[in-house]
Amino acid sequence: MTNISEIAPDVFRISTFFPGFNLQFCQFLVRGEEPLLYHTGMRGLFPVVKDAVATLIDPAKLRWIGFSHFEADECGALNEWMAAAPNALPVCSTVGKMVSVDDFIGSDKTKGMIDNEVLETGSHRFRFLATPQLPHCWEAGFMYEENNGVLFCSDLFHQSGDSTPLTTNDVVGPARKTFIEYQAGPLADYMPYTKKTDAEIKRLAALNPKVIAAMHGSSFEGNGEQALNEYAAMRKELEL
Ligand SMILES: [Fe+2]
Ligand SMILES: [Fe+2]
Repeated sequence: MTNISEIAPDVFRISTFFPGFNLQFCQFLVRGEEPLLYHTGMRGLFPVVKDAVATLIDPAKLRWIGFSHFEADECGALNEWMAAAPNALPVCSTVGKMVSVDDFIGSDKTKGMIDNEVLETGSHRFRFLATPQLPHCWEAGFMYEENNGVLFCSDLFHQSGDSTPLTTNDVVGPARKTFIEYQAGPLADYMPYTKKTDAEIKRLAALNPKVIAAMHGSSFEGNGEQALNEYAAMRKELEL
């Protein structure tokens, strides 16, 4: 059920497929002097994610827990991870820290990032991009690992199905299909489309990432600028 694959040097994708949702939930472990887990997954996933992380590092050595926004699949197991890894701290937007995360962990220790701030962890540099309401939620943001060119894009490029870990094929078409399917059911209006959405996605495109690490579905390797611009065009077309 849970698969691990290295999608960039020392960047590991941990994926669990939920047949009932027809959906993969992915977490990313970035190995290094100060290991960072991007997305914890839901609380119920903690045992399998921890076992997967344990094949890569000593879980107690985890130092950072990053996520885009405050939602179960992003950070539901945050407290479980902080109990398992005594030196681990959450890292997210300043809004996330102020509004939800400090209260959730019961301390003021969350590292709140401002737009364009960089978290240096030795061999990795994580640039934080504040993107309120993209993919969704006030506190949303993204992290871009500059040394390997990996954009952790959370729910952007969400693709249904049990897809391959890393692809060079089109990921915008499958994401478009998922948007249309969701819009016809109880998961409609997944993400807001605002007058800022297009510019925010194009700002990510300008980073020209080599790898786009998606929470749901395949990660993408290739021309990240083109993929993000095509994704922006798809969102504009659907107004979703
Ligand atoms: Fe989300
Ligand atoms: Fe998600």
